[in-house]
Amino acid sequence: MRTPIAAGNWKMNFGPRQAAQFASVIRDPLRAISGAEIVLFPPFISIPAVHQILAGTTIGLGAQNLSDQPGGAYTGEVAASMIAELCQWVIVGHSERRHYYGETDALVNSKTRLALSANLTPIVCVGEDLEDREANLTERVITTQVRGSLGDLPAEQIGRVVVAYEPVWAIGTGRAATRQDAEDVIQLIRALMSELYGQGVADNTRILYGGSVTAANIGEFMASPQIDGALVGGASLKPEFVDIANVIASSKAGA
Ligand code: 13P
Repeated sequence: MRTPIAAGNWKMNFGPRQAAQFASVIRDPLRAISGAEIVLFPPFISIPAVHQILAGTTIGLGAQNLSDQPGGAYTGEVAASMIAELCQWVIVGHSERRHYYGETDALVNSKTRLALSANLTPIVCVGEDLEDREANLTERVITTQVRGSLGDLPAEQIGRVVVAYEPVWAIGTGRAATRQDAEDVIQLIRALMSELYGQGVADNTRILYGGSVTAANIGEFMASPQIDGALVGGASLKPEFVDIANVIASSKAGA
């Protein structure tokens, strides 16, 4: 049984003051939810403020990125071990990092290793862009990304890895994938995980959907036995995230 995940990626929104304010608004309604792991991903500078607000709750905290180096003279970077002082989670290889900052599968792979060795739970993102989809290249692109980003990870830590399928054309566009689109690709990702690590690992790996998730469409995604939760962007900046988390938590009850 895979515990579902409701993850809120705040992206580059909410400095420390606003982050603390918003976290105080959603904390109590979120902590009342059981049956899902709930995780907030503020910008780096706001992590300590949110950490304080969440103290004493089981709501998870994560970073949106990490350095590909373990430490030292890398101006502007933040190492996995530093993140692990305040967080349990980290997003790796988000499409915005891949597209705007040139992150490759090889880089995503080494960041994922560093996250695992610092005991963080990585959410590794994959997803095709519109051009790929229209050229019928989705399967090829996802296969390359999964093998490159998720291949050859340490067997004893692979159980901790979470994957997020975020089709680039669905991110921030208001045009979510259909449940069928998401399910097809997530099934492919699970099959690739099985090739890499065996069926047992594939069956236990949690795979999330991300891309224009709202309180109105989350139920449709969660009705799929393949989809283990969501990585939410825009809607995670609003109290609507509580509604989304509630649906995610209740959807697999009794499954
Ligand atoms: P939106 O929910 O704003 O489309 O963003 C999705 C996303 O990129 C989450 O990481």
